[in-house]
Amino acid sequence: MTLKNKLLGLIGLSVAGLMMFSCTEVKEANYQIIPMPLDIQLAEQGKFVLTEGTSVIYPENNEKMQNNANFLAEYVKEKTGITLAPTTEAKRKGIILKVEENQEKPEGYTLKVTTDNVTICGGSEAGVFYGIQTLRKSLPVVQGEKVALPAVEINDEPRFDYRGGMLDVARHYIELDSVKRFIDMLAMHNINRFHWHLSEDQGWRIEIKCRPLLTEKGSMRKETIIGKTDKYDGKPHGGFFTQEEAKEIVAYAADRYITVIPEIDMPGHMLSALHAYPELGCTGGPYDVWCHWGVSKDVLCAGNDATLKFIEDVLGEIVEIFPSEYIHIGGDECPKTRWESCPKCQARIKALGIKGDEKHTAEEYLQSFIINYAEKFLNSKGRQIIGWDEILEGGLAPNATVMSWRGEKGGIEAAHQKHKVIMTPHTYLYFDYYQSYDRKSEPLAIGGKLPLERVYSYNPLPKELSAEEQKYIIGVQANLWTEYISTFKYAEYMLLPRLAALSEIQWSSADKRNYECFLSRLPRLVELYDLKQYNYATHAFNITSNLVQDTNEGVVKVALKTIDNCPIHYTLDGTEPTTSSPLYEDTLKIKEACTINAVGIRPNIKTRIFTQKVEINKAEQK
Ligand code: ACM
Ligand code: ZN
Repeated sequence: MTLKNKLLGLIGLSVAGLMMFSCTEVKEANYQIIPMPLDIQLAEQGKFVLTEGTSVIYPENNEKMQNNANFLAEYVKEKTGITLAPTTEAKRKGIILKVEENQEKPEGYTLKVTTDNVTICGGSEAGVFYGIQTLRKSLPVVQGEKVALPAVEINDEPRFDYRGGMLDVARHYIELDSVKRFIDMLAMHNINRFHWHLSEDQGWRIEIKCRPLLTEKGSMRKETIIGKTDKYDGKPHGGFFTQEEAKEIVAYAADRYITVIPEIDMPGHMLSALHAYPELGCTGGPYDVWCHWGVSKDVLCAGNDATLKFIEDVLGEIVEIFPSEYIHIGGDECPKTRWESCPKCQARIKALGIKGDEKHTAEEYLQSFIINYAEKFLNSKGRQIIGWDEILEGGLAPNATVMSWRGEKGGIEAAHQKHKVIMTPHTYLYFDYYQSYDRKSEPLAIGGKLPLERVYSYNPLPKELSAEEQKYIIGVQANLWTEYISTFKYAEYMLLPRLAALSEIQWSSADKRNYECFLSRLPRLVELYDLKQYNYATHAFNITSNLVQDTNEGVVKVALKTIDNCPIHYTLDGTEPTTSSPLYEDTLKIKEACTINAVGIRPNIKTRIFTQKVEINKAEQK
């Protein structure tokens, strides 16, 4: 090489060096998100680079699409700091949002990325919103770096039309802003129904103007039982949503393509109403708003015409607040004890000519009378009922949809009877259950064992149903009851990341479901949880190990792993590992019996220390 060439080479190197310093790093989006889209076809090359001021082009005179554009801008800002520019002006380059109603599923969308454009085309505005959620979740979290979207075509649509999440704000009142935060979480997970459990033995939470005592008296309890003791905290607890506030929630949810389904639980779980209007109970009371949990024998008197008037009064205002096609009227856990000895209830049984038989008692048929009454009233207002699976007892109301919670039996029976079904079996989808087998290190929960993997494993289409009958399963829902959940931070912990597993059951096609693959995608979603400062459970991030006895070498080979491949530090002498302990780089070859302690190090996520005893199987050594 001549001196001149060497010099040129040096200059070239320095220019390249300068360029490296002056160009900001480009981070790429990754479309492996939760819930997993139906089809992702990555192009061989090409990318769209998001920059400050990239246009988001949406159709004129379409408020929903304007909202969608604003959501996209908000989400991109949140993850990348880049400010997009929503506009209705046609541009050659930018992100184009549009609706093509001929798509088979209104909630489906295509997301196409080329060098010049990102196009999100939905079967409806809701479909566009889900495309935006996919784009949002694909983005890396960056500060100051550029973001490139690899060229791709994604075709996606939901598996189930009804994708629900239930929040009980009655056992513990949850404030308006937290309810909105819950709705944001649902939206992030492509969930489109918010089942709002508004009345309980422990509190009435929705203003009913023609029945003011429901909230004046029924929304407050004197105190609350402490954990699983027999002691009480001595602090009044309560709160309710005015109709204006409830409408605000309905609108907030609707902006995010979520329908709010209110639940007024009847004829059981009614002590707060009975406290306000004791004449509605079989014994006439007095009744107290319950300060503890369980199932009360005191329920609405089914023989009293005042009860029927009460149902009409309440549901008449509920339909004015909530435009949802479905109104949930509960129907669960209604003991018939009082009805059996109540002259009014027995007189009603006689007047209706009800007779018990081998299938149901007369009182179970009486419960059907109440549910039928509520259904008829709601049908007359153009609405449909959902009830818990107990509404099967005594015969289903003609148009009722069944929410199957005591396992799948009720759902299967309802589908046999050609009624619509929403699956929410407690053994898979009750998020008030413990999410680890190690209960001691968990906050108090109602019971049960429901780790992430078990939630994920749920298949909502029982084999007992024919293909034709399976069509009656319109969807899946998880429920968060709040007996032991007194703050929303605590609720977040119970919800996340189980809501992510739920979303994949609800949205992704069955053949795309794979738990290992789901776990590999979870860290990307959790980055978003961190940005939102959600309080989530971290069990999925625990260190896992694989031990192999190598009798040839006389060692045990121990491989350690986390789903996000974070740095792992370990000790072998029983001490607690810190960042100064050795860094795990490759499989450990352990020669002497010891205890491995290891910890994964991350800026945001703390997990428990991994501990594993290792024995050396000397007998088999050569
Ligand atoms: C229920 O869990 N009682 C529906
Ligand atoms: Zn009665």
